[in-house]
Amino acid sequence: MTWSPTSWRERPAVQQPDWPDEGAFEQVQKQLSTLPPLVFAGEARLLTSALADVAAGEAFLLQAGDCAESFRDFSADNIRDKLRVILQMAVVLTYGAGVPVVKVGRIAGQFAKPRSSPTERVGDLELPSFRGHMVNDDLPDAASRIPDPERLIASYHQAASTLNLVRAFTKGGFADLSHVHAWNQEFVASSNEGRRYEAIAAEIDRALRFMRACGINLGAEQQLHQVDFWTSHEALILGYEEALTRQDSLTGDWYDCSAHLLWIGERTRQIDGAHMEFLAGVKNPIGCKIGPTATPEEVLEYCERLNPARVPGRLTFISRMGHEAVGDHLPALVRAVRDAGHPVVWVCDPMHGNTFSSPSGRKTRHFDHVLAEIREFFAVHAAEGTWPGGVHIELTGDDVTECLGGAEEVFEDQLGARYTTMCDPRLNARQSIDLAFRVAELLREG
Ligand code: PEP
Ligand code: CO
Repeated sequence: MTWSPTSWRERPAVQQPDWPDEGAFEQVQKQLSTLPPLVFAGEARLLTSALADVAAGEAFLLQAGDCAESFRDFSADNIRDKLRVILQMAVVLTYGAGVPVVKVGRIAGQFAKPRSSPTERVGDLELPSFRGHMVNDDLPDAASRIPDPERLIASYHQAASTLNLVRAFTKGGFADLSHVHAWNQEFVASSNEGRRYEAIAAEIDRALRFMRACGINLGAEQQLHQVDFWTSHEALILGYEEALTRQDSLTGDWYDCSAHLLWIGERTRQIDGAHMEFLAGVKNPIGCKIGPTATPEEVLEYCERLNPARVPGRLTFISRMGHEAVGDHLPALVRAVRDAGHPVVWVCDPMHGNTFSSPSGRKTRHFDHVLAEIREFFAVHAAEGTWPGGVHIELTGDDVTECLGGAEEVFEDQLGARYTTMCDPRLNARQSIDLAFRVAELLREG
């Protein structure tokens, strides 16, 4: 069978919504396929080459953002705040560990969620599960949960304006290294992590002054004034991804132009499934989540299927085992890939294997478990002689109380104070920066 943007339709596609009106869904796909691409093929190629440096052990990947972006919390402030906490983390990692950091957001398209169960309990109600704002609404009533294909169009437009702002922030002055202090939000600045961050920012200022004093024309050094920031999301709703897939006029290759990097989720990584088929044929850099049930044979099949030409930077494995399982399950997988000579990037998602329900019934994660999984991930790579290529984090720039622990500890009885996520619990800005310091230490030790 030869690949085409529609060949996934011959395969079983799990996690697709039951659209009440298939005709309306098809109309929406037609409309999407006439709209401009959100990203360009050349940009996807640049990200592949940046990730090739990660695969070679010469750079570190920071992939971070919301679990699910919201149609409701859509504002310039929200995007700016998320961006600045990611930039802060990147500064801490770059300065603290001395490695280049490839920055990828779960942003500008992260609107669709896979669910373990078709229904969920909200209070006394049993409702169809919320599947992300690309599909239905999170409000707790049956009508809101009906899938509406018009949401695909709304997702496209929100992704376009988000990306526009991300490009403006990262290329138009906000991300200039001379503004490192301005990225520290007030509620962070007063904390321990905030003060540690300020110390780094002050050293960066000093270094910049030193270079200027040496006669270096800092104005001419573009890297000091702009940041490359890439977008990513889970390629879940295949009709949407197909409609945004375009043939590159320069190379003739197909690219999914909805984001720079697309990933396959833990629930959709069936080797003969539709998601694998679709992503095997687009040339973007691809991620694949790897949970604790994955076998070495499966992981090698993913390598062959998604990256038969063994292009460095093409394939990133996002390990999400849980802090208790990672030490048992990850080594055999890393070893198998290493011995087969596949040039993959290994990234640790310490979020999705560490979710539990608090006594109050809220989904949460503990900072200590998050950190424990990252530590163990680093230890496995140290033992196998491979490079712990990065981290994949769910966070927000807001002062939320969704994850427990951290240096300014969030306690169980505080979870309700500012619990605003529509989906998984996210680290707040303080916890995120705290984590970046810990990861920088691990990188330095390695
Ligand atoms: C996610 O990244 O939000 C997610 C659903 O992850 P996973 O597929 O690893 O469960
Ligand atoms: Co999530």
